[in-house]
Amino acid sequence: MKIVLNTGGGDAPGLNAVIRSVVLSSEKRGWEVFGIHEGYRGILEPEAYPDGGIVRLDRQAVRGITHVGGTILGSTNRGNPLSYPILDDKGEWTTIDRSGELDAAFKEHGFDALVAIGGDGSLSIANEIGKRTGINVIGVPKTIDNDLKHTISTFGFDTAVSFATECLDRLHTTAESHSRIMVVEVMGRYAGWIALFSGIASTADVILIPEIPYDLKCVADKCNWRVGIGAKFTIVVVAEGAKPQGGEISIVGKSVGQAERLGGVGQKVAAALEAMTGQESRCVVLGHLLRGGSPTAQDRILSLRYGAAAVRALEEGVENVMVALQPPFVKYVPLSAVADAMKPVPLDGDIIATARDLGVCFGDD
Ligand code: F6P
Repeated sequence: MKIVLNTGGGDAPGLNAVIRSVVLSSEKRGWEVFGIHEGYRGILEPEAYPDGGIVRLDRQAVRGITHVGGTILGSTNRGNPLSYPILDDKGEWTTIDRSGELDAAFKEHGFDALVAIGGDGSLSIANEIGKRTGINVIGVPKTIDNDLKHTISTFGFDTAVSFATECLDRLHTTAESHSRIMVVEVMGRYAGWIALFSGIASTADVILIPEIPYDLKCVADKCNWRVGIGAKFTIVVVAEGAKPQGGEISIVGKSVGQAERLGGVGQKVAAALEAMTGQESRCVVLGHLLRGGSPTAQDRILSLRYGAAAVRALEEGVENVMVALQPPFVKYVPLSAVADAMKPVPLDGDIIATARDLGVCFGDD
């Protein structure tokens, strides 16, 4: 068996652990693994790489990387081969379908399977590539956002939550010293998992998530109420995809061939709360810090489990699935069921209920 793997979309702590797990599990079976640089760019622009864009991954190549953040293969969120950005004759950006080149490369190298490590966007692309080229695709669910359907958890999420929690703990003390409202914006795209989990863990007073559009009047009331009870500071965690009731998500911009970039809501919320309450407010954006650093022990274990499960799936002859954590098992779910689907925070689950019982304000009451 000759496996080719890649890492696509935004990076997440644990990518290297998955790569190592796929390689070691494959070597055990006498199989070979190859890695494509930067998503599919290694195939589409081989001249950009001294090694030709595809690298053999053996035991030596993956030694000592389980705890290392990022990805030894590199990643990109501009490299969708089905919609590849190019400059046209008039110097304007447009996109073309380059999946035929992937098909040719897979056949030339004799690859039997593609292990695609990615989030919803990358797995949707991999699913389509599987259909067009006929290669068997095994998806591995990656994203700090934890917004993939059919899996309890994506790797990278726990590390992001742990780091955000530590930051929020630190911001508590400075917020209290200065009697300020501290608004902390975290990533998560259209789901509020990171904001919710880090907010609860760090005992934030207000958590604003995309699943619950907010009314700033409720948030301002909460800030004023806290002053009334002698707590002169308020910690507000806001997910980048949170939006006001009847309003829109805050977008930074969009480039050709890329998903829209979210951001800016934290600053808007901080400015509005200062105006509404008269309390000094500051905004901190954690942004890409959430994607950096060493994976937590939980993320390392999850990543290693996913990598080994991907190889077992191939051994069992399973086709076009994503490995998914459905405790106590790692199961296989059809890749087509994951593509273009997202997992929002369930509003009827115990997590939101717990937060409300603890007095957390979601900006809706
Ligand atoms: O999907 C992961 C993620 O980090 C999101 O939380 C965020 O919106 C996005 O990627 C940012 O991507 P980038 O800045 O790398 O384009």
